[in-house]
Amino acid sequence: MQITHAFSLIFCATAILGNGAVAQYVKAGTPAVSVSYSGQTVTLSGLDYYIPPAVVSKLSSSVKVSGITGDLIPFTVISTADSVFTSAAFDKIVMDYKSKDDVFSDGFLGAVYIKYTGTKKPTIATGALTAIIKKYGSKTFLTSTNYKLSSSSKFSKDLPIGPYFLSLFTGEIHQAYRLYPDEQQAFLYGTIPTSSDSFGILNAHVKGAHTATVGVPSRLYYTKTTKQPLAGVRLAVKDIYDVKGLKTGCGNRAYYDLYPEKTKTAESVKRLVDAGVVVVGKVKTSQFANGESPTADWVDLHSPFNPRGDGYQIPSSSSSGSGAAMAAYPWLDLALGSDTGGSMRGPAGSNGLFGNRPTHGVVPLDNVMPLAGALDTPGIFARDAELWKAAGHVWYKGLKDFKTYPKKVVLPNEYWGAGVRAQPVFDEFAAKLASFLKGSVVNYNMTELWDAGKPAGFGTVGSLLGNAYPAIIAIDQIQKVVDPFYADYAAAHDGRLPFVNPVPLSRWAYGRSLPPTAYDEAIANKTIYMNWWNTQITKPDSKTCSDSIILYPQSAAGPSYRNVYRSAPGVPTGFSVGRISVFAEVPDVVVPIAELPYNSTITGKEEKLPVTVSLMAAKGCDLMLFNLIADLQKAKIISSVKTGSTMY
Ligand SMILES: *[C@@H]1O[C@H](CO)[C@@H](O)[C@H](O)[C@H]1NC(C)=O
Ligand SMILES: *[C@@H]1O[C@H](CO)[C@@H](O)[C@H](O)[C@H]1NC(C)=O
Ligand SMILES: *[C@@H]1O[C@H](CO)[C@@H](O)[C@H](O)[C@H]1NC(C)=O
Repeated sequence: MQITHAFSLIFCATAILGNGAVAQYVKAGTPAVSVSYSGQTVTLSGLDYYIPPAVVSKLSSSVKVSGITGDLIPFTVISTADSVFTSAAFDKIVMDYKSKDDVFSDGFLGAVYIKYTGTKKPTIATGALTAIIKKYGSKTFLTSTNYKLSSSSKFSKDLPIGPYFLSLFTGEIHQAYRLYPDEQQAFLYGTIPTSSDSFGILNAHVKGAHTATVGVPSRLYYTKTTKQPLAGVRLAVKDIYDVKGLKTGCGNRAYYDLYPEKTKTAESVKRLVDAGVVVVGKVKTSQFANGESPTADWVDLHSPFNPRGDGYQIPSSSSSGSGAAMAAYPWLDLALGSDTGGSMRGPAGSNGLFGNRPTHGVVPLDNVMPLAGALDTPGIFARDAELWKAAGHVWYKGLKDFKTYPKKVVLPNEYWGAGVRAQPVFDEFAAKLASFLKGSVVNYNMTELWDAGKPAGFGTVGSLLGNAYPAIIAIDQIQKVVDPFYADYAAAHDGRLPFVNPVPLSRWAYGRSLPPTAYDEAIANKTIYMNWWNTQITKPDSKTCSDSIILYPQSAAGPSYRNVYRSAPGVPTGFSVGRISVFAEVPDVVVPIAELPYNSTITGKEEKLPVTVSLMAAKGCDLMLFNLIADLQKAKIISSVKTGSTMY
């Protein structure tokens, strides 16, 4: 095992002053000098680990191991109630740990701590230790009968099973974090908890990696309970949500530099932390959550890499980091994003994931950077419908849970059957869904329905709403984010302007060109549409929450390369199917259903890209949709997706 000590103050002082200067500074006897220990990076049997400074437990006596002169050793805590300890039982435990956890490895078996939870006097079966030593190279066995854990109130009473690092000198026990490089450039940084409710940037770096390093604690430490149904679930957070101890950068370097670390975690994030999730890092957002394409739009940060297909497809936007990370990393379970005009659904579609835009207003968005309060929604990405459902039930806990489903599957004619290559896949899914629901597929002509049901005196949906989205987002963001940011930046930089990427700049310029009445007018237009939709299209139902489910194609395996020079940014005007849930405030969830081949101009080979479909239902029916989709996975109509180039 190779150990690198990382004392943060020395590292930082060395960088500024050089070694000699540090020595002089210390010699001068400045009383304010303090050295804080910020953990260690170690390599164990070829795998990279981080040992956080926090001590989670302590043996009441120090440990002597013959042949080891160092301090920290990797060790594994196992728990058994068997009064006779056998090598077969040990084999089973090791197999179980390996199947459940990516942090645990054979390297931790050199020393084993056996927690005995039985009542009879424990014994070790003849030959058991010899067999274990031979198979795993274990050298040291400590038992809870010989080595008691400290009863200090500083530590929790129980030390969960799993891999740890133990100080032979002090008996202190530290958790083990496995380190991973962020190859897709989706993260800003990895995080670790620094107190019960605060986080810090992970002070570790994987050897050779040119990108961020993310650390994950062992999955074996956590047990899911009713109170903590997401215990140990690893979560990445889009960098518009405040997390105590971390800055919120919103994809802008000047903004990141200007403001200090947050002192409060957003209620929305706290809800998930309270349910047991482990926040492993902050992921990139396109600037101020506006829609940006690689590569020219992303001036301040580099756009994350979508791992699907040839690896050079756009990851969509704005929750690009969340989507790319989820599609790429098996060590990550969930990622938070947000959807104002498609920022969840776009990345879910292009990265081939489950991802949702919830009913507007179901989770408070205090301490989250707004694009437009009237339209912003918090969503969650997953690769598995069961875990997605569990997270959805925690996050949107205010909603009523429906387990009976609508029977009517609606295909809006205007947006279905556009002749895309994936159409047979969409049609097959619609048919299977209707059959699962023991219902039927119905076609709606949205134009005719609007004409028949719209309030008197109004024209087309396009004329009502075509300009509403850009007006609402630009006017709201200028007031809540841009003006305060520019003023604060100017005050701190002698009147200077901060750098801002082309897309947000063009949208804000549009916002400033509008008359002051435009915002209220746009909201009034939105309200007209919302009332029509919610009384005439997806209607509430007392048994099934929604009278129907509306389907539309989300992504159709069409390549969209990131190495393309696109036109200068314009104003996001117009109306399309993706705007329905934005204005009607209904849930709109993306489900991966297949992948289809295309000939890649990057690799010169056939590669595969995701086909995903969107499901909408009446307002407040999010939990019904989560339940339904998990049931569709159980029924094998859809399946969970894997990470990497292909989904299945
Ligand atoms: C919807 O109805 C309108 C008016 O009847 C018609 O012109 C249009 O072609 C229909 N659209 C589709 C996609 O069926
Ligand atoms: C609101 O809708 C009317 C059409 O009914 C349209 O003329 C107007 O431009 C819309 N306003 C905004 C701000 O979108
Ligand atoms: C890829 O190109 C080959 C050769 O032209 C062709 O036979 C094949 O059908 C193409 N595949 C797709 C998915 O378009």
